[in-house]
Parts: sequence; structure tokens; C-alpha cells
Amino acid sequence: MKTNNIILIGFMGVGKGSVAREVIKHSKYMTIDTDDLIESMENRKIKTVFAEEGEAYFRKLEKNVAKWLESSVKNTLISTGGGFYKQTNLKKIGIIVLLDSPFDAIIKRIKEHPNAAKKLKKRPLLADLKKAKELYDARRPEYLKLADIVIDVTDKSGEACSKELLKKVKKHA
Ligand code: S3P
Repeated sequence: MKTNNIILIGFMGVGKGSVAREVIKHSKYMTIDTDDLIESMENRKIKTVFAEEGEAYFRKLEKNVAKWLESSVKNTLISTGGGFYKQTNLKKIGIIVLLDSPFDAIIKRIKEHPNAAKKLKKRPLLADLKKAKELYDARRPEYLKLADIVIDVTDKSGEACSKELLKKVKKHA
């Protein structure tokens, strides 16, 4: 059954939240974010969940979110955490859109942001950039394999990306 959902996947810091906020300005979609759902379920920040419970616990929460998205969510733009793509029911949730960019461009984007320190601090898996690059290299082929639509976001504004996304989703439907 068609859910009319769009799932945004991609590496940490690539701009999934910013693109989602632009898409809702230019369309009838509502948007939710899997990390925000987890933070409200847990009443604590993702970095605290990682620190207090460990990553495996966080991944279980992502699984619960994925089940709920499949059973209950329609007509929504779903922005996901960078590791959410591992959920096995992703295809059943909606059209998968990958926001893609080289690792160095992603780190540059984060570092140039006025809230750079906060953006780095809230992401435990970015604490060690060498490890983060290894994670990126391991994940990128998997992201590309899963994606129905790929958008190269390098050096593009959120608005330009959102227009490209809406155009490509319309064509895909
Ligand atoms: C993660 C990405 C984060 C968050 C958590 C784990 C990952 O989300 O879900 O820190 O495994 O890549 P963002 O992609 O929004 O930073």
C-alpha cells in the first residue's frame, strides 16, 4: 500500500533537518524526525542516551520508531538519524531519498555553521573524525544501494535541495 511518505537518509550533518524544513515550506507535507521522536520518548538528549545506555539501546529505540512509522504514518516527510537506514522495513515506510555529499564537504558544512560546537557535541559518533570517516566510507555504498532518489547537496542551499527533491519525488511517483 502506498504511504506517500518520503524518508530522508544520509550521513550525520549532511543537512537532512534543514532540507526537511524547506520542503514543508514548499509543499503540503508535515515532517517528523526520528531523533526528535526518540528524545521525546526518552525525555533526554540522544547524546545522553548514548552515554547512559550505549549505542545498542539507541538502535532498539530506532527499531521501535521504524515499526511505528510503518504501521501509523502517512503523507509525511520523515527525517532520520544517520544510522536509521539499517532498519529492515525502510522500503515499506516510503520513498527513500538520499542526501549525498563527500565527507570533507559535510565536515566543512558543520564547522562553518554558527552553532558548530553544538552540532558536533550532540553527535557522539562525530567525536573522533577518523572513525567518523571510516563510518562514512562503510555506509555510503549502502545508502546509495537503498536510495530511490539521490540528491547531491554539496554547495547547494536548503531551498535548492528541497525544490530538486519535490521535482524528483513527483517524477518517481
Ligand atoms: C547517528 C546519527 C545521528 C543520531 C545518532 C546516531 C548515526 O543523527 O541518530 O547520533 O548513527 O549516524 P543525525 O544524522 O541527524 O546526526
